[in-house]
Amino acid sequence: MENGKRAQWGSNFGFIMAAAGSAVGLGNLWKFPYLAGKNGGGVFVLVYLLIVLFIGFTIMLGEMAIGRSTQLSSYNAYQRISKKWAFVGGIGVIAGFVILSFYSVVGGWVLNYLYQTVIGGIPADTAAYFGSFISDPVAPIFWNMLFMAATALIVFKGIGGGIEKACKFMMPALFVILIIISIRAITLPGAAAGIAFYLTPDISKLTAGTVVAALGQVFFSLSLGMGCIITYGSYLGKEETLEKNSIIVPVLDTVVALLAGFAILPAVFAFGFEPGAGPGLMFITLPQVFDKMPFGWVFGILFFILVLFAALTSSISLLEVTVAYMQDHHKWGRTKAVVILSSFMFLIGIPASLSMGIWSGIMIFGYNIFDFLVFISDILLPLGGILMCIFIGYVWGIDKAVAEITNGGKIPFKLKAFWTIMIKYVAPIAVIIVFLNALGILKF
Ligand code: PHE
Repeated sequence: MENGKRAQWGSNFGFIMAAAGSAVGLGNLWKFPYLAGKNGGGVFVLVYLLIVLFIGFTIMLGEMAIGRSTQLSSYNAYQRISKKWAFVGGIGVIAGFVILSFYSVVGGWVLNYLYQTVIGGIPADTAAYFGSFISDPVAPIFWNMLFMAATALIVFKGIGGGIEKACKFMMPALFVILIIISIRAITLPGAAAGIAFYLTPDISKLTAGTVVAALGQVFFSLSLGMGCIITYGSYLGKEETLEKNSIIVPVLDTVVALLAGFAILPAVFAFGFEPGAGPGLMFITLPQVFDKMPFGWVFGILFFILVLFAALTSSISLLEVTVAYMQDHHKWGRTKAVVILSSFMFLIGIPASLSMGIWSGIMIFGYNIFDFLVFISDILLPLGGILMCIFIGYVWGIDKAVAEITNGGKIPFKLKAFWTIMIKYVAPIAVIIVFLNALGILKF
């Protein structure tokens, strides 16, 4: 709320940059390439694309409709339509809080890597460096603080003057840098093996595990199931076409994920590294790749700027979900909400960071603190997605949702029949099956 009236995006382009900014993040650049590396390359990419097409688009459009219809952030949006369903919005607020707590720890690592690259490079033994940096009790917390402060500063400046402005600058810059790095990577001698691994789906590698991993990744990467898109959608004007927006945002997000694979995997192959290196792929393998590349120093700096922009445009959306809740529900001012919430998230990030080092022995359900926070979000996002589909299909009702999407019939809705079937039947059932499988309740 700015001057008592609800803030709005300056333009639809601004909304798209902000929503794509939320979607494009560490999930695309850090997680997607290593998940693809671990889960059979092309097969994972194929399954991922199908899920984006059928489920990602469906839920994205549903969330935009809820947000714009109520002009409220997630909790209050659900509450306005049905009091009993407000808890679904509440799940989203909790998810935003939990995710940003660990996300900004990794954001801090990225800041440190950028700084180290600028001042002269990561030490040659990148694995040892990564291990000693993340387990240090002080340095990562310092960088996490800086990252959280940058996030807070942007969100403090509000929708148009903060989030939109930042995303309109950072997102186009990110695209340009990513394209430069991808071209560099695929023209390296020996890159062909990496490209083949990435693009050839070997169906024999298709397992339930691949599907579960891809589904979780779609939710995380598209910022779905936790009210982020509801909140951003609540700042949209009635004349914008939600249908088009809900296609453009996943397409942009997917293009970035695919390009990230092109930027990383061919280079990894070209220099004889392991594509399945896991979470260390970006922090351990890539600095070595840059080290071996002509002008690698420049590409290293560009790369970590890119990752930083991606992480920041996502972290601000996570903070905004919780800030908007405090504004809409508890009538807090923006400044108070930003300061208090970001401080708390930073504080929760401290044990998460320490669990990489001196607190690594503390276990919750078999996870260290950091992984436990990741686990909670892996559960909450699909859960939020299932409930949202049921909510739209059977509580709010398809007719009301369609009326919102078409602005009372004024805007055409080409995919109406497809979307209706998807949101009422296919998406909830598919997500429930995969979700139960992930929880170990259903095994196939
Ligand atoms: N989509 C972001 C990424 O890929 C993470 C995120 C999840 C942001 C949920 C907002 C909400 O990194």
